Amino acid sequence: MMPSSAEMESRDKTKRVFSGVQPSGSLHIGNYLGAIGRFSLFQEGYDCFYSVVDLHAITVPQDPVELRRRTVATAALFIAAGLDPRKTCIFVQSDNPSHAELAWVLQCVSTFGELGRMTQFKDKARGKKSVTAGLFTYPVLMAADILLYDTDVVPVGEDQKQHVELARDLAERFNKRFGVTFKVPEPLIPKQGGRIMSLIDPQKKMSKSDEDPDSRIEVLDPPEEIARKFRKAVTDSGREILYDPERKPAVSNLMTIYSLFSGKTLEEVRDAYEGKGYGAFKSDLAEVVSEKLRPVREKYSELISSGEIEKILKDGAERAYVISSSKMREVKEKVGLSSRLSF
Ligand code: AMP
Ligand code: TRP
Repeated sequence: MMPSSAEMESRDKTKRVFSGVQPSGSLHIGNYLGAIGRFSLFQEGYDCFYSVVDLHAITVPQDPVELRRRTVATAALFIAAGLDPRKTCIFVQSDNPSHAELAWVLQCVSTFGELGRMTQFKDKARGKKSVTAGLFTYPVLMAADILLYDTDVVPVGEDQKQHVELARDLAERFNKRFGVTFKVPEPLIPKQGGRIMSLIDPQKKMSKSDEDPDSRIEVLDPPEEIARKFRKAVTDSGREILYDPERKPAVSNLMTIYSLFSGKTLEEVRDAYEGKGYGAFKSDLAEVVSEKLRPVREKYSELISSGEIEKILKDGAERAYVISSSKMREVKEKVGLSSRLSF
């Protein structure tokens, strides 16, 4: 995946990139194409911070042992997908107390009304008998993650655009009220691949929390599983391989995946499968995706068995804290809070 021209244009070592991924389930190819597969594109040119956001994960119930295991696994996947910990800061959100601290201050400049308009909250809360306050204020914690590091660019999938816009609003509001403190960040959403859809229902996005595991291809799925899931993936009526998200949403989604994993344009994919039907297309698609993910799977198993991750995460947390604690001191000073124990 080459960086887009917008990504290239703004390459500048002095610019910061921040993004986060929740350790709330196994990462799928939507996460890969929308976020983690792109993270390494920035590491040569920018000062990058990538966090496993476990405080976000506990907004819904989590098994403590599983949560800790997935936190380490998610960090390992960042590296397996191409991040180099010597060039990039990789850390766990809960290792750095500044995040929860700034989130509280920002909650006090956020309004109930604007948080109630967040579409992800509405989706996650729909039909639930009980919803935590943490789920409601989740986007404010995300704003804190971003604003603590004077972030310029936030690479995310399309579903996070509204949250980055809230971070921008909160930065501007805080700056106006207390004096310039935060940089106003920009979301960076890929033109293609920002919203990969479920393989079972192409009207829904591919999601870690979908109860049907066949709706998603996980990054660590073995090749046979990948082939089985693509074989089972729904297709639209007719036999043609055509990109038409309105009329053929399922096939268009599979073509997007094919195009991004192979580097071929949508037109090239269409031409290659003209008159061939869905069977051949799906079997080649499985091959393309499995092959592209092979080095990621291999690097992941190597890393997990080496035990290197713990040291990487400790160093990452220390580096993140140096920057965020200095921003936190400035925030406290401006708001009139005390910091007698800070040094
Ligand atoms: P999450 O799994 O919610 O922590 O998301 C991690 C990153 O993956 C975020 O940048 C999301 O926007 C992105 N993402 C999640 N699901 C998809 C999807 N179906 N298509 C593209 N990007 C996605
Ligand atoms: N809310 C994001 C998601 O669910 C994860 C996230 C938390 C994040 N903090 C962030 C993404 C900061 C980008 C920047 O996908």
